Amino acid sequence: MPLINNKHVAKVIAIDGPSGSGKSTIAKELANALNVLYIDTGAMFRALAYIADEQKIILKEGAALNEFLNSLKIDYGVSESVLIRINGLDLSEKIREHHVSGLASVISQLPSVRKYLLDFQRSLALDKICVMEGRDIGTVVFPDSFCKFFITASVDIRAERRLKQLRENGDDKITLTQIAEDVRLRDETDMNRSVAPLKKADDAMLLDTSALSMKDIIHMLGNDVKFRAAHLGFNL
Ligand code: DC
Repeated sequence: MPLINNKHVAKVIAIDGPSGSGKSTIAKELANALNVLYIDTGAMFRALAYIADEQKIILKEGAALNEFLNSLKIDYGVSESVLIRINGLDLSEKIREHHVSGLASVISQLPSVRKYLLDFQRSLALDKICVMEGRDIGTVVFPDSFCKFFITASVDIRAERRLKQLRENGDDKITLTQIAEDVRLRDETDMNRSVAPLKKADDAMLLDTSALSMKDIIHMLGNDVKFRAAHLGFNL
């Protein structure tokens, strides 16, 4: 990690925010526009939750959970079509199923799971600039990242976006009211958990996407990243 003015600076563009805020689309498009690696940490919590559920692991701290974590081998960003694999199993599609969201929210509250993924996430960000998306990237995983954005949007807008996504994936049962309730509940859990809660870093730029176009957002964030990178002498 480069040392600038006696401070370590991580070459990470940290993008945090609640689900449905548009942060995943922003993170992906920004990474694309800048031609840098995109790292989706939510996918890691989802994949762990999926496997734990399959293996009927009880989601509480203890020897069984540690044994489970030690038995895992995660591969992230294997290829264009394989985002995440655990113990050789491609979970890229399965992690998007609706029930996995709730399971991921529960598993993400466990300190040993967070510690396990924290180490993994840090190992992925090497010498090159990357975009890392999650809930605690700017506060816990890389508090020294050179660029931080906290993305948000109103609950109603976020529920509508989620509904559209689920309909596209073939789920035609769940209603907008149910989703809005899920969104509220998940926010509450994510913001109030004792370890690494969802929180804007003091030095992150806050961006409400409720009324902004994706094109404008990418343009604005891209310029900000380029400016900071040039100032620090980072190649983009
Ligand atoms: O962003 P997402 O919906 O795919 O995240 C799934 C769950 O994982 C969500 O409940 C929050 C949790 N998560 C987290 O606690 N920390 C992260 N860095 C990323 C996700």
